Amino acid sequence: MSKIAVIYKSKYGSTKQYAEWIAEELEAQTFESAKVKSADLAAYDVVIYGGGLYAGTINGVKTVAEANCNKLVVFTVGLEHVTAVDCADIMAKAFAPELLPTITAFHLRGRMDYKKMGLIHKGMMAVVKYEAEKKPADKHTRFDDFVLETYGKEVDFVDRATIMPLVEFVRSL
Ligand SMILES: Cc1cc2nc3c(=O)[nH]c(=O)nc-3n(C[C@H](O)[C@H](O)[C@H](O)COP(=O)(O)O)c2cc1C
Repeated sequence: MSKIAVIYKSKYGSTKQYAEWIAEELEAQTFESAKVKSADLAAYDVVIYGGGLYAGTINGVKTVAEANCNKLVVFTVGLEHVTAVDCADIMAKAFAPELLPTITAFHLRGRMDYKKMGLIHKGMMAVVKYEAEKKPADKHTRFDDFVLETYGKEVDFVDRATIMPLVEFVRSL
């Protein structure tokens, strides 16, 4: 049986929730990324890292980007429906080019509730909305459109069933 660690960084809880569900399915241990030292990760056969997406970057990914993992699987959690192309882009910002072919990434959808958002994030979303409104529609990113459609509302796409492709992949290793 493989020794598996699920490491996560979660600001509002959706990544943590997915990390716990994944760990339950795989009988793995979960750790918050702040409590893990990169050097300890070599003790695991598989490390699964989950981070929320913030402005197209994976929250806290440094913990694993600088570690020597035997096998690394990454899941991102964001509001957008991320395509394979977007996912490749996000991964390329987070990991050294020589590591990229060894990592498998999955994207899961999260949640956003403006009532629970911190001040800095509220400010960032207001800037995204303001900038998006100024741009012509054909220059909008999908995140711009998403923010314009859902600004100020609560949106929740968290769904346990969507972890299964990742779980099956790790079981197949
Ligand atoms: C300031 C801010 C920036 C965000 N940027 C993105 C983004 O670039 N792409 C995306 O898909 N979701 C984005 N989101 C949505 C979060 O990724 C989503 O709320 C996710 O569920 C957060 O996970 P967490 O609460 O576990 O950290 C953003 C949210 C905030 C507040």
